[in-house]
Amino acid sequence: MSATTTPEILQKRREGTTLNADEISSFVQGIQSGKVAPEHIAAFCMATMFQPMSVEERSAFTLSVAHSGDILDWSKAGFDGPVVGKHSSGGVGDKVTLIVAPIMAAAGAYMPKLSGRGLGHTGGTLDKLEAIPNVNTSISQEKLQAITKDIGFAIAGATGKIAPADKVMYGIRDVTSTVMSIDLIAMSIMGKKLAEGTEALVLDVKSGSGAFMKTTEEATALAQAMWEIADNNGLKARAVVSDMNEVLGNTAGNALEVSEAVKFLKNSSTANLRLKDVVMTLSSELMIASGLSKDSDQARQKIDHILESGRAAEKFGQLIYALGGPIDLLENTEKHLPKASIQRPITVDQTAQLTAMDTEEIGKIIANTIGGGRQNVEDPIDYAAGVSDVSSLGAILQPGDSVALIHANSETQADAAEARFRNAITLSSPSSEYKFNTTILSVISGSE
Ligand code: URA
Repeated sequence: MSATTTPEILQKRREGTTLNADEISSFVQGIQSGKVAPEHIAAFCMATMFQPMSVEERSAFTLSVAHSGDILDWSKAGFDGPVVGKHSSGGVGDKVTLIVAPIMAAAGAYMPKLSGRGLGHTGGTLDKLEAIPNVNTSISQEKLQAITKDIGFAIAGATGKIAPADKVMYGIRDVTSTVMSIDLIAMSIMGKKLAEGTEALVLDVKSGSGAFMKTTEEATALAQAMWEIADNNGLKARAVVSDMNEVLGNTAGNALEVSEAVKFLKNSSTANLRLKDVVMTLSSELMIASGLSKDSDQARQKIDHILESGRAAEKFGQLIYALGGPIDLLENTEKHLPKASIQRPITVDQTAQLTAMDTEEIGKIIANTIGGGRQNVEDPIDYAAGVSDVSSLGAILQPGDSVALIHANSETQADAAEARFRNAITLSSPSSEYKFNTTILSVISGSE
């Protein structure tokens, strides 16, 4: 236990004096025991908004946050390949876990993935899976391990206590306007990731109008901070910064995204190119980080084979069955997924180019206006609600073409969603000067 008192720790943090390992672990343990009060945590978070931490300080802090609860240990699970993880900072239409996890399983890795539910404008992997009838993601740690051993991956909600100190801190950050600090976000995310006990990790940090980080500079700083924490704590990681200025893929909304993911796994040659770029980059970076491939060319060749052979699709089907879902989801996807009663095209009446999307607003329309998400954790979800056939930025539309199809279960919701959607997009006169967004903005691997 550190001899430094909590007010002294706060003074050092306010002045930017480096805290030592004892002081850091004493502060985090105090959060757990109650010795560190909410007002101390609030002061600490506010000071950190203005006084950046050193890499070492941030890494030590994150490790303490990880150790505030259970540290998952896969060493006795009998896995005969690397244990890998993935994290996305959240976006709209981000169904990438549903595709990358079965690819990694088919490549010989084991991915026991703890995922979250959608909150705010971003969707959650658990909600997407639960759009499939009878799928239950509330499974025990033992079942998560058994399914992962059997199939190579499993996706479930966190059980037990993963980084409980982060939960306390996050609640205080939320009400003290201290969420948007790179140090605190990196510690919060990586505290949970270190507790998950994987050997290799790929981080997908989104940047743009549908992301937490609105600029490439902020997203890159967060990716770098998270990568450094992983590196300092012996976790092999690669951090990708990817564009989120438009919906990822052609769909957003729980059941619609499952449908797009299954189509991708069954026939990736027809997949949305931006989605494919993100899937290929994250999978290949994880193959390299986990030692399954020596370089990107080799990794991409393996992934192509896995997709063409249908092995990743098969793995996904097996997971759905293991979680209580239908045995024939791959063959009869549309029969099983819920459908909205209304499919409203957002048509244009003159030739136009789609030049911008307020992607966060589109996420909010799905979550709030048509019931595809929740404001509170207990709120029910309309799994069928969402948008499909979303045009890519830069697309040139002719009169009568639609920018997207809104899926809703009432005319009133569809009317409100259409009005909001029209405000969320920018249509311009077509121009050959239009600059298309790059999907993968950078990869941080430590080897450059
Ligand atoms: N997600 C987290 O888990 N923590 C943050 O601070 C921000 C996003």
